[in-house]
Amino acid sequence: MKTISLESRILVYEDRVELPADILKLLVEAEHAATRAYAPYSHFQVGAAILMNNGQVVTGCNQENAVYPCGLCAERTAAFAASAKFPEVPFSRIAITAINPVEPLKVPVSPCGSCRQVLYEYEQKFGQPIEVILAGQEGPIYHLRCVADLLPYTFHAGFLP
Ligand code: THU
Repeated sequence: MKTISLESRILVYEDRVELPADILKLLVEAEHAATRAYAPYSHFQVGAAILMNNGQVVTGCNQENAVYPCGLCAERTAAFAASAKFPEVPFSRIAITAINPVEPLKVPVSPCGSCRQVLYEYEQKFGQPIEVILAGQEGPIYHLRCVADLLPYTFHAGFLP
């Protein structure tokens, strides 16, 4: 018998003042995207901004629906838009943040499992790590080196016949 240990490194910035300028710029794009969320049911507004290898930024925000499961998270809205617009361009980074209208979010927002799986697909497709930047409205900002760190033991195309 043996134990497998996993390591997931997260670089933690204390606040926005500590952020390198290029990361802050992408986060601001995600913040703007969050203000455009269509979230009449949860009122929780999420924004994502993807920096592509070609320098373009593609954003997304959550899209809700009266039939709740029909809605889509910000991250997948952004990822699918990015892949639809630039199918052959790898994703370099994604910044994700959220607005809680009731009480400011003080911890970095955490992408759901489905969004992690979708982002992982593009990381695998291009064989290039996608850096992940997670922020709340205030407080620390997390910087992960790749999506795989957010989703160990992932199901991937290699399992398929
Ligand atoms: N949501 C996202 O857009 N991204 C996440 O990572 C977590 C949750 C959305 C889905 C739904 O519109 C609202 O936030 C509440 O779950």
